[in-house]
Amino acid sequence: MSFKDSKVAIIGAGNVGSTTAYSIINQGLCEEVVLIDVNKDKAFAEALDMAHSVYFMNRNIKVHAGDYRDCTDADIVIITASAPMPKNSTSRLEMLAPSMKIMKSIVNSIMDSGFNGILLVISNPVDIMTYYAWKISGLPARQVIGSGTNLDSARLCCELAKLYDLDAKSVSAFVCGEHGDSEFVVWNSATIGGKKIDDVMQDNAPRTGSATKQSLLKMTAQSGWEIFSRKGNTCYGIAASATSIVKSILFNENQIYPVSVNVDGVYGLQGVFLSVPTIIDKTGAKEIVEIKLQPDEEEALQKSAAVLKSFYKELEM
Ligand code: LAC
Repeated sequence: MSFKDSKVAIIGAGNVGSTTAYSIINQGLCEEVVLIDVNKDKAFAEALDMAHSVYFMNRNIKVHAGDYRDCTDADIVIITASAPMPKNSTSRLEMLAPSMKIMKSIVNSIMDSGFNGILLVISNPVDIMTYYAWKISGLPARQVIGSGTNLDSARLCCELAKLYDLDAKSVSAFVCGEHGDSEFVVWNSATIGGKKIDDVMQDNAPRTGSATKQSLLKMTAQSGWEIFSRKGNTCYGIAASATSIVKSILFNENQIYPVSVNVDGVYGLQGVFLSVPTIIDKTGAKEIVEIKLQPDEEEALQKSAAVLKSFYKELEM
């Protein structure tokens, strides 16, 4: 596989699927992008609209609507489809029941095409959906990745960068665990310009103001809802997060992102999909980075794993 002849198929041409496609095209990451949706008109229209945008971009990319046969030779298939979030919902976990059947039929259709690339799952509740997709697909675990807390980590870095008036890329902090309420921050390894977060917060008390680690985590976990409750979806952040994962795969970058992967035999966990820092290369989730956790972080990780695993028995295999 090389990025010169690479192909990405996206299942779901809704807000998240279409924005992800546009983000990938904008960054010129592959040669072909295919949009697949049960609503064929929607996929056709989004693809045609995007195809016209290619004229103004750096790379000539084929963009078109397709069907599951297009997954046969895709390097990456991104699953974005899910049932709509129930009205007045307060947790992504409430999407599990209505989305389960959709996920099962999508993964079966992808696998029926003979697909043997990397499956990137975005659909919520993403950690459980990624586990489910892995189980149904029969693909090796390293080929199945969930977008997980890559976005939450970016949100935390943005919040910290805002406090200290910095470029968020100068902040290095991982949110791990569930992409949801039980997520936690690995504070002990978080740094700004190589300086420990604790020291930064203390040494810059006027800028830190009333912010605490607890308030920063709360803000991070809540920010999806700040967006969702006002516009009914989130799309730009998650699309950019997915694009960063796609880039690390197609360009064989070996970037380390906190993504939802099969954590089995590390971090004291067995067979659970949740986010931990992971090296991502052309083969997918190449290797998990095991950070030495503090006792409270250890506890939070175990709690996150227990929350997620408690839903596995509800999954129809
Ligand atoms: C969010 C969605 C992707 O947090 O869960 O924006």
